[in-house]
Amino acid sequence: MLIKPQLLITGGSGFIGGHLVKHLSSQYTITTTYWSHSFQDPAAQWIKIDLSRRSEVVTLFETLNPAWVIHTAALATVARGEKDPQPMSQINIEGAGNIAKCCTQRATPLLHFSTDMVFDGKEGNYSETDPPFPITHYGRTKLEAEKIVKHYSDNFIILRIALCLGSPIWGGSSFSQWVLENMRKNQPVHLYVDQFRTPLHIINLCQVVEELLTIPFRGILHLAGTEKANRVQIGQAVAQQYHFSEKLIHPVTITDSLSPYPLQKDLSLNVSKAKNLLKTSLWNFSTLAKNL
Ligand SMILES: NC(=O)c1ccc[n+]([C@@H]2O[C@H](COP(=O)([O-])OP(=O)(O)OC[C@H]3O[C@@H](n4cnc5c(N)ncnc54)[C@H](OP(=O)(O)O)[C@@H]3O)[C@@H](O)[C@H]2O)c1
Repeated sequence: MLIKPQLLITGGSGFIGGHLVKHLSSQYTITTTYWSHSFQDPAAQWIKIDLSRRSEVVTLFETLNPAWVIHTAALATVARGEKDPQPMSQINIEGAGNIAKCCTQRATPLLHFSTDMVFDGKEGNYSETDPPFPITHYGRTKLEAEKIVKHYSDNFIILRIALCLGSPIWGGSSFSQWVLENMRKNQPVHLYVDQFRTPLHIINLCQVVEELLTIPFRGILHLAGTEKANRVQIGQAVAQQYHFSEKLIHPVTITDSLSPYPLQKDLSLNVSKAKNLLKTSLWNFSTLAKNL
C-alpha cells in the first residue's frame, strides 16, 4: 500500500485552509489546526492550537514531522487589525515565526501564505521585485511575517495571493460569499467602483498549491487571476451567477468613503512569473465568474 506523505496545514477551519484540506486529502495524510472553530471532518486529523505559543508549535512538529507545511492561519480582517492590533500581530507575526523556526530546525519546506495587501495600491500590476509598502496594520503584519520566514529559511515559498473568491467549505468566508449572503437577504450592497484587484478563485488556488508541492521552486510568487476587476464587477458576477438583480448593487467610490482605515486603489498583481513557472493555467475573470 502506498504511504501518503504527511502534510501540516495550519488554519483548516478557515476559508483557504479548509479548501486545501479537502483538495489535497487524496494525496496526503493531513493534519490541520484550528483555534476557535472545530469541524473535525475525516479528511484530516484536527488539532486545536494557538500558533502564537511557541511551545505548542514545537510539540506539534515533534509529534508529526511533516513532509511539507502550508501556513494559512492568520487574523486576516483588515478592520479588526486597525481596531485591535495586538492579537493580529501575535498570530500573524509571532505565529509565522514559530512555524518558520520549526520548519528550519527540521529542514521542512514551508509554503507561507501572504497577501497583495503588502503593497500600497498606488500603482497596481505589482511584481515580486516591487518594493512592498503596506498601509494597514494587517498588511504590515503580513510583511513582517515574510521577513521572518526569509530570515529563518531558504526552503520556503511565500505565496502572495490576491483577493480569493468562492464558497467556504467549513469556516471562514470570502468577499463573493459576503455579497451573495447580502443578496440572498435582498439587502443592498455598497461596492467600490474604483478599487481594483486581480481576483483569484479558490479552486484555481488549490490547483496551483497542489503543483507547487511537487516542483523545486522556492522564493516569492504572486498568485492571482489574470484580469483586473473592481468590486462592482465582482458583485455583478455574483448577481449573474445566482440570478439576483444587479439593482442590489450600489456603486460607491473610495474617495467618498468614510472608512476609518486607508483603502488601496489598485492592488492588482502581475502574474508573469507564475505563468512562466506553472503548468496549471491561471483563470481569467470570466472563468472565475462562472465558478462562483
Ligand atoms: N481570503 C483572502 O482573500 C486572502 C487574500 C490574501 C491573503 N490571504 C491570506 O491567506 C491566509 C488564509 O486566509 P483565510 O481567508 O482562509 O482566513 P480565515 O478564513 O480567516 O482563516 C484563518 C484561520 O486562522 C486560524 N487562526 C486565527 N488565529 C489563530 C491562532 N491564534 N492560532 C491558531 N490558528 C488561528 C483560524 O482558526 P479558527 O477559525 O478556528 O479560530 C482559521 O483557521 C491568511 O494568511 C491570509 O492572510 C487571504
